[in-house]
Amino acid sequence: MSGSQPPGRGLYVSLLGIDGIGKSSLAQRLTRDLRERGLKVLPLSWRDCLDAQLPGWPQQALRTMWMDTYRLMFGSTIDQGQHIALPERYADWVEERAEERLSELAATPSSATTGPLAAAMVEFAGNLVLYSEVIRPALERGEIVVQETFPYKHVLKEYLLAVYAANRTGTGAYHPQEIDPLFTPMEEFFGGPLNPDVGVFVDGPPELALEWRLKQSGQVGVMEDLRIAGEPGFDGFVRLQSECARRFLEFARKYGWQRHEVRDAPADSNVRRGLDILLAEISRLRPHWQLGRCAGVAAEPAEPE
Ligand SMILES: Nc1ncnc2c1ncn2[C@@H]1O[C@H](COP(=O)(O)OP(=O)(O)OP(=O)(O)O)[C@@H](O)[C@H]1O
Ligand SMILES: [Mg+2]
Repeated sequence: MSGSQPPGRGLYVSLLGIDGIGKSSLAQRLTRDLRERGLKVLPLSWRDCLDAQLPGWPQQALRTMWMDTYRLMFGSTIDQGQHIALPERYADWVEERAEERLSELAATPSSATTGPLAAAMVEFAGNLVLYSEVIRPALERGEIVVQETFPYKHVLKEYLLAVYAANRTGTGAYHPQEIDPLFTPMEEFFGGPLNPDVGVFVDGPPELALEWRLKQSGQVGVMEDLRIAGEPGFDGFVRLQSECARRFLEFARKYGWQRHEVRDAPADSNVRRGLDILLAEISRLRPHWQLGRCAGVAAEPAEPE
C-alpha cells in the first residue's frame, strides 16, 4: 500500500479476519466516525450490490456469480433425502430465501473437491468485477470505500474446504497437490491490483470468535466450519478458522497490512483500538483530510518479529 495516489482520489479501506472476530463492528464504527467528520463514505460489499441501484452491467453478472458460488458449494448437497434445488433467476432466489434456507442446513455431506474449488474461482471472478466496476469508480469519485471483509477471505475458505474434502475422501478428480497451484495466482492478485490503500488484519483467537458467534446467533454459519468437507461440529470451526488466521497473517505481512489484535475485552474497547489504527493510517495517507487528533497513534505493522 503505497499511498502514492493523487489527492482528490478517495481511499479504499478493507478489513481481513476470521468469521465473527469483529470486522463488521469495526467497519460500522469507522463509517460513522468518518461521516461525522463530513467525509463521503461508501460501505461496500458484494452482497449489498445485488439489490443496489446498479445498471444491468455489472449487476446481472454480480447476481449470477453470487448465486453460482452457492450453487457450486451446495449443488450436490442432499438434505433429508432430496437434492437441494436452487432457483435460477435472481427474483426467485430472493423470493424463495435461498441463502437463508442453505444456512439452515444442519449437516452438509461433502460435495468432494469440485464444488468448493469451482466456487473459489467464481468468487474470485466476481471480485474482479466488483473492484473494477463498483469500487474503483467510487474511488475515482473521491469516496472512501469501507469494505468490512476483504474478499480474499471467501476465496481462501472455499479453497481450503476443497483441500480438506480432497484430503478426507482421497478420491475425486483433483488431489490436494494439484489444487494448490491454482490458488497462488489468485492470492497474488489480491495482494497486487486488488490490494486496498488501507488494509487492517483483525487478529484474534478462533475460540473467542466462536464464543461471540454462539452468543450472537446460537450457531455457526454453514460456511464457517468443516461440515461441507464432511466434518460437522465446533472443532471444525476452530480448525478451519485457525488455518485461515495463519494464512491471513502471512498475507498481511507480505502485502503491508496493519494488524489489530482483538482481546477478550468488551466489544467497545476492541473497536476503539481498531479505530485508532485505522484513523492513524488514513491520516498518514491523506493528511489533507485533517483527521489530526488521531494522527499520533502508532499503528502496528504486521511485520515478522
Ligand atoms: N470484544 C467483543 N466482545 C464481545 N462480543 C463481541 C466483541 N467483538 C465483537 N463481538 C460480537 O461478536 C459478533 C460478531 O462480530 P462481527 O459481526 O463484528 O464480526 P465479523 O468479523 O464481522 O463477523 P462475520 O464473519 O460474520 O462478518 C457480534 O455479535 C459482536 O457483537
Ligand atoms: Mg461481518
